[in-house]
Amino acid sequence: MSETAGASQPILCVTNLMRDFGGVQALRGVNLNVMRGSITGLIGPNGSGKTTLFQVISGVDAGATGSITFDGEPILGKRPSKIYHRGLARTFQLSRVFPELTVLENLIVAGSRRDHRAHERALGLLERVHLNDYADVVGKNLSYGQQKLVEFLRVLMSEPALILLDEPAAGVNPTLRETLWDMVRHLNGLGTTFLIIEHNMEVIADLCSEVYVLSEGEILAHGDFATVRNDERVLEAYFGKSRKSSVA
Ligand SMILES: Nc1ncnc2c1ncn2[C@@H]1O[C@H](COP(=O)(O)OP(=O)(O)OP(=O)(O)O)[C@@H](O)[C@H]1O
Ligand SMILES: [Mg+2]
Repeated sequence: MSETAGASQPILCVTNLMRDFGGVQALRGVNLNVMRGSITGLIGPNGSGKTTLFQVISGVDAGATGSITFDGEPILGKRPSKIYHRGLARTFQLSRVFPELTVLENLIVAGSRRDHRAHERALGLLERVHLNDYADVVGKNLSYGQQKLVEFLRVLMSEPALILLDEPAAGVNPTLRETLWDMVRHLNGLGTTFLIIEHNMEVIADLCSEVYVLSEGEILAHGDFATVRNDERVLEAYFGKSRKSSVA
């Protein structure tokens, strides 16, 4: 995508989102915009509500209030399959590869086009991440990192406009991790928008044009990484009041 084409328009708008789990307020009025064509980071301490936010955005968790629009359409309360078919896809914090299916089958079952083109696309994606030799290997025989990469590729089969990645590199070896981030950069260059939960601040600093910091269900800060890493409230959330250091 060019620098100017729709770059300043949000593809996803989250407004005053609340989610309460029987007294645990996991989301307390979250406001967040993801700009079309961006790679946006979502960071925050463990238990701050990051995965819950993804569950709600993707429709898997239907218990929130507030408003979410994707591509100008309200999606809060819509079924996950409906949201997915509109072009918003996500991965899970723990890999969800079908253990008895081959890598190729894992990709093709998820494709919206169960046809010749899906087959071609799957092979193209596998080649791009150097997993073409694994096309006929069943999911359970892959390393954890390979499974996570296959889950990511599965999401790509439907060519979503926005992809939510929940710690995609966790438990993945450094080589595969680099492949994964290269793929994110490549797809972003082709116009795909990303919202990424990631604990590695070097990756966030390198990839993300904008970063949101969630703490105890609230957005504490947002802006470029250099700005948020020195924000007093962010330092306090990560390190407690006394630390003067910066995030990362
Ligand atoms: N299904 C649920 N039922 C009850 N409480 C939940 C549920 N899901 C999440 N929570 C609670 O909501 C809060 C936010 O959890 P969440 O998993 O969203 O955090 P996170 O930021 O993704 O953490 P991590 O970095 O460890 O993955 C936590 O207090 C968690 O225990
Ligand atoms: Mg999480």
